[in-house]
Amino acid sequence: MISRRDFVKAVSGAVAAAGAIHPLLTWADADSEVVVPGKEGMIVRSTRFFDLEMPPEFIDSWITPVPHFFVRNHMHEPSALDASTWELKITGEVEKPLTLTYADLVKMDPHSVTNTLECAGNGRAFYHPHVPGVQWQKGAIGTARFSGPHLGDILQRAGVKPTGKHVMFHGLDEVPGKVPPFIRSIPIEKASDPDTLIAVRMNGEPLTKHHGFPARALVPGWIGAASCKWLSEIKVLDKEFDGNFMKPGYRMPNHPLKLGDPLNLDDSHPVTALNVKSVIAGPTDDWTSSSRSVHIHGVAWAGEADIVKVEVSSDSGATWQAAKLGHDRAKYAWRLWSHSWKALTAGDYTILARATDSQGRTQPESEEWNPSGYLYNAYDQVKIHVQS
Ligand code: MTE
Repeated sequence: MISRRDFVKAVSGAVAAAGAIHPLLTWADADSEVVVPGKEGMIVRSTRFFDLEMPPEFIDSWITPVPHFFVRNHMHEPSALDASTWELKITGEVEKPLTLTYADLVKMDPHSVTNTLECAGNGRAFYHPHVPGVQWQKGAIGTARFSGPHLGDILQRAGVKPTGKHVMFHGLDEVPGKVPPFIRSIPIEKASDPDTLIAVRMNGEPLTKHHGFPARALVPGWIGAASCKWLSEIKVLDKEFDGNFMKPGYRMPNHPLKLGDPLNLDDSHPVTALNVKSVIAGPTDDWTSSSRSVHIHGVAWAGEADIVKVEVSSDSGATWQAAKLGHDRAKYAWRLWSHSWKALTAGDYTILARATDSQGRTQPESEEWNPSGYLYNAYDQVKIHVQS
């Protein structure tokens, strides 16, 4: 556990650098509940760095307001960021290495992508047996409209050599001690996809510091770790980057593992696109309904695929009813869904939800084991009590 003083120090550095006028932070109650300015109501999963989860009650709109959007940091946020002196270098396997300023990026032809960003570890807390790492439950996820130039246009300006196969992102995180920096790469094909961006705006406003100001990668449909924040360098490589956050980090087994088995790195691949998944946002766990009619609602997403149906069960999966999908949709964005359910009798119920996508994938009843707890997507469930 970090002390309150250390956390105040961490937050005060970040807030001062952002020029914010909020009180530094407040401690909501005697249990030392931490509130991060601008992110009130979020579940603080880690105070060492900022790891903030959206509670299910906030999952109620197609576009997640920035204050409710989860934050996942592996290290300290940069303490000083100044858009007027910030530079982005494009290096490596390119004909003409470039240096772009914030003004250069903002002048480039912008493109917008509404993307559901999910941390690969979302749902890790539900793995059995327990796996180490941030114990995210349902809310290491959010949907926002990200805008900025196509990464492909920037790469084209620099002229990628035929040897350029992967694109590496490096951010300005402040690395604590001797730990390896947060550097990852994506294949050139995904980097050149017109929907892959160097985002400078989120929901129409400049990115906030928690979300990568002045510029971040936006690799739509892929795990959040692909979308590097506080970019300082984009380097074209002749092969996949092999640092800590590519290997051993963020890898999945090539073949299903037996429960509890370790990962064999030589028989694994990097985690890329997201799974098909739905979560129930309401009612929340342990809720008591005073009526037999219960409005069940949530969100469902599938990375690069589309959601085709969401189903709900109140009898342990013996029967399923189709939920109604919301009208708002975009290629990489979640769908809202809802279902009006009537309990036949009063009592305790477990409500299950599962989604199916356009690639024919359906959420499984139980998770596929991997020792880092990535891509959890078993049926979601809430236990509720119907009173009368
Ligand atoms: N970029 C940098 N530079 N440093 C980080 O720690 N975390 C990654 C990614 N980009 C990270 C980063 C991870 S693991 C996730 S899930 C997303 O950022 C979270 O983005 P958000 O904090 O804007 O929600």
